[in-house]
Amino acid sequence: MSNTFFLDGLEIPFREGQTVLEAVLSAGRYIPHLCWRPQLGPHSSCRLCTVIISGRPFSSCTQPAMKGQQVECDTSELHDLRRAVLQMIFVEGNHYCPSCEESGNCRLQAMAYHLGLQDNHFPQQFPIRERDSSHPDVNMDRDRCIRCEICVRASRYLDGKNVFGIHGRGIKSNLAVNAPSGLLKDTDVAAEDQAVTMCPTGCLTVKRVGFKVPIGERIFDKETIVSVALKEFRDEEVAHG
Ligand code: FES
Repeated sequence: MSNTFFLDGLEIPFREGQTVLEAVLSAGRYIPHLCWRPQLGPHSSCRLCTVIISGRPFSSCTQPAMKGQQVECDTSELHDLRRAVLQMIFVEGNHYCPSCEESGNCRLQAMAYHLGLQDNHFPQQFPIRERDSSHPDVNMDRDRCIRCEICVRASRYLDGKNVFGIHGRGIKSNLAVNAPSGLLKDTDVAAEDQAVTMCPTGCLTVKRVGFKVPIGERIFDKETIVSVALKEFRDEEVAHG
């Protein structure tokens, strides 16, 4: 018998070692996710990828695919849960999409559209977070950080630099940089770093290219987050198997 499990009743093949999320993407299907990226693997912090297996919630980015398991993803309860998680992410930061340079390229915004978010529901927290514009080429707007640690992991594992970290806990947690001054200008980050280009929001942006691509012509103006995620996953599979 081949290695397969069932996603909402649909048979999904998997290879040994794949997680549920990887197998689902490999089969051309989609589970919402934010903190997982094919180049970096799981982090298990955003919980958007939650599915139900045997009546219990699991993050599909960390759950190994197993033969015969029944995975529920497309249920109204899970859609509600994902929307609530996303609403909490929005109110825990200061995300003003209309004035954000990343609007149209932002995965948080694209996910909100994908999940049909209509409002923030929860009280806005308005955390006070410092912006760091000290670097000549990279801007760091902590207001837009969602603490997915993609920059932390990308800097460490893809750029080989270890520039970013998270300090503090809960609503007080914040993006920090690896320099005694605490300023981005005193790190070796560069505009081309994966840590910068992979940031899913407008937290890390490159200076002097603002609005080079006009609103309406940006990534998620033209493609859904589903098609972008599937393409990225295919590219990574082709590159690394
Ligand atoms: Fe699985 Fe974020 S994508 S927890």
